[in-house]
Amino acid sequence: RSMKRSEGEEVERPHAVCLPMPAQGHLNPMMVLSTFLHSHGFTITFIHTDFDRSRLLRSGGPAALRSTETFRYASFPDGLPPSDIEGNRHTPASGPKVTLLVWDGITSFGRRAAEALGIPNVMFWTASAAGLLSYLHFPELVARGIAPLKDESYLSNGYLESRVDWIPGMKDITLRDLPGVLRTTDPDDIMFNFVKDEAMSAHEASAIFINTFDELELEVLTAMASKLPPIHPIGPLSLLLPNHQAASMASNLWKEDGRCMEWLDQREAESVVYVNFGSVINLTVETFKEFAWGLVDSKQYFLWVIRPDLVPGSGLPEEFWEAARGRGLVVEWCSQREVLMKASVGAFVTHCGWNSVLEAIAGGVPMLCWPAFAEQTTNCYYACKKWGVGVEIGEVVRREEVTRLVVEVMEGEKGKEMKKKAAQWKEKAHRTIKAGSSFTNINRLLLV
Ligand code: UDX
Repeated sequence: RSMKRSEGEEVERPHAVCLPMPAQGHLNPMMVLSTFLHSHGFTITFIHTDFDRSRLLRSGGPAALRSTETFRYASFPDGLPPSDIEGNRHTPASGPKVTLLVWDGITSFGRRAAEALGIPNVMFWTASAAGLLSYLHFPELVARGIAPLKDESYLSNGYLESRVDWIPGMKDITLRDLPGVLRTTDPDDIMFNFVKDEAMSAHEASAIFINTFDELELEVLTAMASKLPPIHPIGPLSLLLPNHQAASMASNLWKEDGRCMEWLDQREAESVVYVNFGSVINLTVETFKEFAWGLVDSKQYFLWVIRPDLVPGSGLPEEFWEAARGRGLVVEWCSQREVLMKASVGAFVTHCGWNSVLEAIAGGVPMLCWPAFAEQTTNCYYACKKWGVGVEIGEVVRREEVTRLVVEVMEGEKGKEMKKKAAQWKEKAHRTIKAGSSFTNINRLLLV
């Protein structure tokens, strides 16, 4: 519990409690942050919900969440009925005095608890800065009568193409590019109101750390700087830790299938299309089929991660595999961070979850973007229209379009340009985390 500062002098280790939103895209960056703090002398208490705890134990085995004296796991009830919870709740009896609480931008109840207890605390926003800036303007969308939408016809009558020229730092954006959660007609819509209210907690933070980097989101970060407490971009966090340390983190909610790494190693440079829709979204059977046939018809090698709950039904039919002629591999979950670093990966079909986008940038991989909800639509806009590393697949998925875009990115002129841009962003990403502003900023966290 204590560290030696100099000969004979013992000091208490600082103790950070880390409170992520219980979802894969939040657990991963929070775990990186915790591991970083731990390696700089902090004692960590990492908080899961009981439900996630049981899932982590299932995917990683008991060793995954074994607490040590200085890295402790705790969990709390999440209100799900007991039948959904296999593991036991785990609350360490007592521990060293808490000196820092790191709350996720959408676990703001943590901030209120820390304030009440007088514990220093910081906000950690795991999605894009553009996502945060958008959510912060949700009250204005309401005040201007834009959201909720007046009726369903507004989803298809061209209204979403309207320019939004009143958000500083996002001057060319349209309603369609803002977070998809605004596409509701219900004033009581749970997601819309949740993200609107949670994002506002940024105003109460003592400091905000964001998993992004200065050059990538400069305009947005500059616009936010005048309105919010001090903001420190610290990404891409997937590049922060040495490989062995990142690989040993216990945060996979699904069991990883390592076969794909060997398979990728056997393929030629930039010859594989990697497809993964993240941890949350589900596909309809129809959309799944269009992606599947679009992919096969492109005649490219592909690695497709199909979570057990991605689509209803029993997966890909025999004819699909016959048509694929040995060019494809399907697994249920992979180490995406590592996949996107493989030389054989030439393109990434993604839902544009922020971690996925950043990991693609870190690996220099161009993206075919099919955003579904939350700020994925906003991330897609930036990847395609601002950073030059993405092309968008239409909302209603058609196999011909998938095939055309896959071939264009893998073999066409557009693909070449995207790869060039992606390589430039990759270099910037590595530079900032090694010795640039993200490196400086993450070290500020040690001083809070
Ligand atoms: C959710 C929201 O949908 C998204 O809009 C928001 O930005 C973050 O939370 P999610 O579906 O979890 O996104 O996607 P993403 O942000 O990309 O995070 C998924 C994480 O899981 C990534 O770090 C990715 O590397 C990891 N992952 C995913 C794997 O390691 N293996 C997989 O097979 C799939």
